[in-house]
Amino acid sequence: MKSSLYLHLVILSFHLLLLLHFTINKVRALDTNNNTDRQALLSFRLQISDPQNLLSGWTNHISTSHCTWFGVSCTTDHNHRVNSIHLPGLGLSGTLSPHLSNLSSLQKLNLSRNNFYGQIPIELGRLFLLTHFILAENSITGAIPASLSQCQNLRVISLGFNKLTGHLPPELGALPRLQVLDASGNNLTGVVPPTFGNLSALTVLSLDSNNLSGPPRRQSRQPPPPTSAPTPPCKAPLCPAPPPR
Ligand SMILES: *[C@@H]1O[C@H](CO)[C@@H](O)[C@H](O)[C@H]1NC(C)=O
Ligand SMILES: *[C@@H]1O[C@H](CO)[C@@H](O)[C@H](O)[C@H]1NC(C)=O
Ligand SMILES: *[C@@H]1O[C@H](CO)[C@@H](O)[C@H](O)[C@H]1NC(C)=O
Ligand SMILES: *[C@@H]1O[C@H](CO)[C@@H](O)[C@H](O)[C@H]1NC(C)=O
Ligand SMILES: *[C@@H]1O[C@H](CO)[C@@H](O)[C@H](O)[C@H]1NC(C)=O
Ligand SMILES: *[C@@H]1O[C@H](CO)[C@@H](O)[C@H](O)[C@H]1NC(C)=O
Repeated sequence: MKSSLYLHLVILSFHLLLLLHFTINKVRALDTNNNTDRQALLSFRLQISDPQNLLSGWTNHISTSHCTWFGVSCTTDHNHRVNSIHLPGLGLSGTLSPHLSNLSSLQKLNLSRNNFYGQIPIELGRLFLLTHFILAENSITGAIPASLSQCQNLRVISLGFNKLTGHLPPELGALPRLQVLDASGNNLTGVVPPTFGNLSALTVLSLDSNNLSGPPRRQSRQPPPPTSAPTPPCKAPLCPAPPPR
């Protein structure tokens, strides 16, 4: 009798320990995700100046969720992971933090028309869900990192009008979903890599105003414009009167 009670106690405490273990792990996992995103955003913020003070809400104040920060969007599921940073045309200036690579759910990064300078961190190749990488019209220098070829979901790479140098990485030819590659208005040299012939989803390749040479040079392989102008959408009271017959 006494030993059976003892056994029960042992089993009970074992179960309690197990429960505690899973609870702690679960809390830690959620915490890490949330906290990693938050820390990554704060690291990104630290390296930029914001003349219009639009990012003043980006602080580590405990009561504000980073999902409510200006320009930040999160997934709607219970994990609340950052999936978009949309900060174009705000006069932001600074370098791109490699900590952005910790935003493992990031799909869209739009920092176009600012004054970002310095290089594209090779670590950004860890953003496996990234679909839109938009840095057009900044002052980014250095080469386009070949590591971007690891972002296998990329659909749009927009790097036009920066100060990029070096060669187009042949590895980018292995991006199965790439539809738009715009690197016009930079100082790229060398040839367009033959691997780009494998970009079967590509509809726009814009590489003009560089120092690229030699074939194959396919520019703006855009679908031809429709023969008749598309009818613009209109709401009933705004529609123009039909022509008299
Ligand atoms: C962190 O995640 C938890 C649960 O997934 C969520 O309830 C909470 O709002 C998140 N925190 C932030 C700051 O997004
Ligand atoms: C975040 O990214 C930086 C730069 O790549 C890295 O050093 C750091 O270990 C990462 N932190 C986490 C929590 O993943
Ligand atoms: C990025 O932002 C610019 C400026 O608002 C906008 O024109 C462009 O369509 C955006 N690109 C994407 C892919 O969201
Ligand atoms: C390209 O390089 C030349 C010579 O170094 C420089 O004068 C020019 O401003 C550069 N262009 C761009 C777009 O960076
Ligand atoms: C192309 O390269 C030459 C020298 O290699 C340089 O003088 C020229 O400025 C470059 N052109 C552009 C558009 O950057
Ligand atoms: C294109 O892809 C095929 C199949 O993955 C590969 O065998 C070939 O080497 C690639 N071509 C180039 C030019 O990279």
